[in-house]
Amino acid sequence: MKRILILFSHPKFEKSRTNSVMVDHIKDIPGVTFRDLYECYPDFHIDVEAEKELLSAHDVIIWQHPFYWYSCPPIMKQWMDMVLEFGWAYGPNGVALKNKTWLNVITTGGAREVYCSAGSNSYTVNEFLRPFEQSANLCGMNYFPPFAVMGTHSLSKAEVKEYALEYVKLIDLLQQGLSLGDFKKCAFLNDIPQLKTQ
Ligand SMILES: Cc1cc2nc3c(=O)[nH]c(=O)nc-3n(C[C@H](O)[C@H](O)[C@H](O)COP(=O)(O)O)c2cc1C
Repeated sequence: MKRILILFSHPKFEKSRTNSVMVDHIKDIPGVTFRDLYECYPDFHIDVEAEKELLSAHDVIIWQHPFYWYSCPPIMKQWMDMVLEFGWAYGPNGVALKNKTWLNVITTGGAREVYCSAGSNSYTVNEFLRPFEQSANLCGMNYFPPFAVMGTHSLSKAEVKEYALEYVKLIDLLQQGLSLGDFKKCAFLNDIPQLKTQ
């Protein structure tokens, strides 16, 4: 079974409507290590060696976060800047993360239809996530399309729960070694047939 590490960052978790439900559903799944970065590092002093050890001990790294200003919350960037070191994560002999999986699990206020060239956000979510995709590529990791919960402000509690259950199913598929095959280029993991419950 693949070992899954979830690195979660939410600067206002106490006010969360969406991530809080998702986290409740996945944080205690056996074989999953859940880490709330704001809880671990309220002062932003990342323990680089501890994080490297955790990365080495897992196969799939999930970044779960709300989309803030078309990107990630600041602690995730701090984590990347500190932990993904030259000569370890990339560069000569930097092979520690090679062949591991990288996946962003995001929530966005904007609905899916506004993330396109004709929409108010001008670009697709996949385009906004390019820095993460290329960081994964640089580290020799397998970058998976994001799992996204979009238009969060207009989701009912039942709809949020439905997404949370899909997330649980996704974790199960990843533990079993989900291979995307023909779906590697799809925009969102939400769309892969394996995830459909009915
Ligand atoms: C500082 C800030 C920046 C945000 N930036 C974006 C953004 O760039 N795009 C977007 O679709 N939503 C944006 N949002 C909305 C959040 O993504 C949304 O409220 C969140 O994903 C909902 O999840 P939660 O209920 O777990 O907080 C932003 C919200 C805040 C507070």
